[in-house]
Amino acid sequence: MTVEPFDAVDVIRAKRDRHALPESELRWLVDAYTRGYVSDAQMSAFAMAVLLNGMSRDEVRVLTDAMIASGERMSFASLAVPTVDKHSTGGVGDKITLPLAPLVAAFGVAVPQLSGRGLGHTGGTLDKLEAIPGWRAALSNDEMLAQLRDVGAVICAAGTGLAPADKKLYALRDVTGTVEAIPLIASSIMSKKIAEGTGALVLDVKFGSGAFMKDIDRARELARTMVALGTDSGVATTALLTQMSTPLGLAIGNANEVRESVEVLAGGGPADVVELTVALAREMLALVGQPDVDVEAALQDGRAMDVWRAMIRAQDGDPDAALPAPRETLSVTASRAGVVTRMDAFPFGVAAWRLGAGRARAQDRVVHAAGIDLHVKPGDRVDAGQPVFTLLADDAARFDRALDALDGAWEVGDAASTPAPVVAERITA
Ligand code: URA
Repeated sequence: MTVEPFDAVDVIRAKRDRHALPESELRWLVDAYTRGYVSDAQMSAFAMAVLLNGMSRDEVRVLTDAMIASGERMSFASLAVPTVDKHSTGGVGDKITLPLAPLVAAFGVAVPQLSGRGLGHTGGTLDKLEAIPGWRAALSNDEMLAQLRDVGAVICAAGTGLAPADKKLYALRDVTGTVEAIPLIASSIMSKKIAEGTGALVLDVKFGSGAFMKDIDRARELARTMVALGTDSGVATTALLTQMSTPLGLAIGNANEVRESVEVLAGGGPADVVELTVALAREMLALVGQPDVDVEAALQDGRAMDVWRAMIRAQDGDPDAALPAPRETLSVTASRAGVVTRMDAFPFGVAAWRLGAGRARAQDRVVHAAGIDLHVKPGDRVDAGQPVFTLLADDAARFDRALDALDGAWEVGDAASTPAPVVAERITA
């Protein structure tokens, strides 16, 4: 029998009593938890102690490193071009990865985008892409490398080999009220991104009602922690703090978000989606030595669209196939004329989820055609009786609960204030 060098209870007590954790103990805790020696109960107590007492920069670095060491590390060193990835902390209508990955790859860099599925009110990139007939999320490491070499962009599911400690710990945090701890969010996200092997990374850290971080101060703290972690690990990392108080774009769902992404790739699309896509593309390209390229031109002249079509085809999807359409729709109209003053992201996300666009449990299936199409955004004028948004579902029985979520979520008034800019701040090392 192996003799364990530490006791979990001592590590928990040390964090509870705000003592600095020695590197060896923290590394052991993560390893022993991954092996099943440290129990879920003990790790829950540790996570709660971290939520309440925080971690030093050094402790977060060691925790992240230990989570990376729990699994495989990928390498893109065999590619002849630099790699750059983007991670968003998640929001309502956040389809930016879809136009962004092909747009950045159009400039000759490789974009390995390991993505996840949605849980709760925020959608998942893979769920959206699976609305495209035939498209396949699961790729082997070899397939991923080949696609990066041939096409330049890949969006696929993260394999189970990356940071398995995080997978276990994240599931535990989800049921113990410890998701919100900044050191735990930062180490969770960055362990996967660093293990993935990207050379550079741009973080889209969202704040507002539809985001994990409701206020900008916490979003800034999370962004600074993650930028420091990336930089300390040799990954060139910057972050943008972006608004998530209003849904992004006009489509919330899966198939409708793909349609909107294709509009952006065709040189159109809603102004906020274009603005954020272009801002993130500029950040990503600057990190790999292309600070002055004309990003918008690649949306207007079809270069980004060409990469998108090749990327979808490479994963067995048909970029020309019709997307799933909803069986039932319900339009909600304005009861008076005026200006839309507010559309609160969180309830719109919850309503889309209740319509079937998201899943309540990991094993649930999403309804690809479900969601919400907005017809106007804050700042737009409406007449009495004009449709404000349309609910999309496979079953009309879903409408009542979605409408409950939307009660009080939007407003038509006399004058709207100017909408806040999408990008609020830039955080660098
Ligand atoms: N996304 C992650 O991967 N981990 C977190 O802790 C939060 C969001």
